[in-house]
Amino acid sequence: MPPATYKRILFNERPEGDITSTTFRTEVSPFDLKPGEGEVLVQVIYLSLDAAMRAWMRPVKTYMEPLQIGEVMRSGGLAVVVEAGKGSKLAEGDLVTGSVGWREYGVFRSTELRKLQTPPGAETLDWLGALGTTGLTAYFGLTDIGKLKAGETLVVSGAAGATGSLACQMGKILGARVVAIAGSADKCAWLESELGVDKALNYKSPNFKQQFKDAVPHLDVYFDNVGGEILDLALTRLNMYARVVMCGAISEYNARPKGLQNYQNIITQRAQLRGFIIFDYTKQYPEGLAIIAKWLAEGKIKRKFHVVEGIENAPEALPLLYSGGNTGKLYVRLMVVKVADPKVKL
Ligand SMILES: NC(=O)c1ccc[n+]([C@@H]2O[C@H](COP(=O)([O-])OP(=O)(O)OC[C@H]3O[C@@H](n4cnc5c(N)ncnc54)[C@H](OP(=O)(O)O)[C@@H]3O)[C@@H](O)[C@H]2O)c1
Repeated sequence: MPPATYKRILFNERPEGDITSTTFRTEVSPFDLKPGEGEVLVQVIYLSLDAAMRAWMRPVKTYMEPLQIGEVMRSGGLAVVVEAGKGSKLAEGDLVTGSVGWREYGVFRSTELRKLQTPPGAETLDWLGALGTTGLTAYFGLTDIGKLKAGETLVVSGAAGATGSLACQMGKILGARVVAIAGSADKCAWLESELGVDKALNYKSPNFKQQFKDAVPHLDVYFDNVGGEILDLALTRLNMYARVVMCGAISEYNARPKGLQNYQNIITQRAQLRGFIIFDYTKQYPEGLAIIAKWLAEGKIKRKFHVVEGIENAPEALPLLYSGGNTGKLYVRLMVVKVADPKVKL
């Protein structure tokens, strides 16, 4: 039985700096959703919270159109098909993924969603993490942009987060010496003892700069998730022909960027800084996913699922990404429901 009403969370106000209590508003609507031809009605069960969401709130076009005021908050998620319209490519009970947004229920064209079959060794939630754009970003960032080779020194910032924790482990699998940078002693202990990085450094420690210089005489690849001062510091340790993977700049998403001081080392070290957006690799996703799935099946990749309960808590959960409140991938669980495939574990 469908409920009498359902919730959606709308983008309400562009934040100037940090996300606030008025950035979003909740709308409760009567349940009048019905799939038409080629459409499906889905119930959303998990939402993925991603650092890029703050960048979409700016009034400028990035790699996506800016969010419009009043729009349902854009978000990837997992959902289950509740009702399939005539001619739909999906069936009731299918587990699917797509850009579902912050809503409990929605109607989509069946071609906008992808049916999932979780490979051995993986969990359903991996579709939003290791087997989602997060894992693919770590993989193609390291292999194609960073061209990481065995024996090289890899530095990863934002290392205990979703993308960074996968980049650290993939770096170890690819044979690199890995130095991780994260924002607490607990995160550093997890990175060293559980994920097996060679050294983890807390950038909030008063001696961080000296510790970084001691741990990183030279770096070959810097996987940058944070930008700002840590990127500037990394530029002082570039090896000849070093590659900087410009993945993200979370330290500067909520404020005006300050600019780099040490960029002249890029010239003297013949280094390369290259930005990328994971959607550039859409055609290569199957190749990347096959390798990540194999690593998962071999038990080579550990994950931490940081799950917040209830769609109403999504607005308070999102800022955890900018304050360092999450370890591993951040999700919002809406509901645990039955899916058609009894092998699917939710
Ligand atoms: N290029 C692409 O296609 C692509 C795709 C996916 C993600 N990304 C980028 O990858 C990065 C990570 O995203 P994610 O979604 O995986 O989030 P995440 O790493 O799970 O969470 C963000 C982490 O960043 C750290 N952080 C926050 N503010 C910081 C600051 N001022 N200085 C240093 N570290 C800070 C926090 O950990 P601490 O406790 O360590 O501070 C926080 O846990 C983001 O920059 C995102 O934009 C890019």
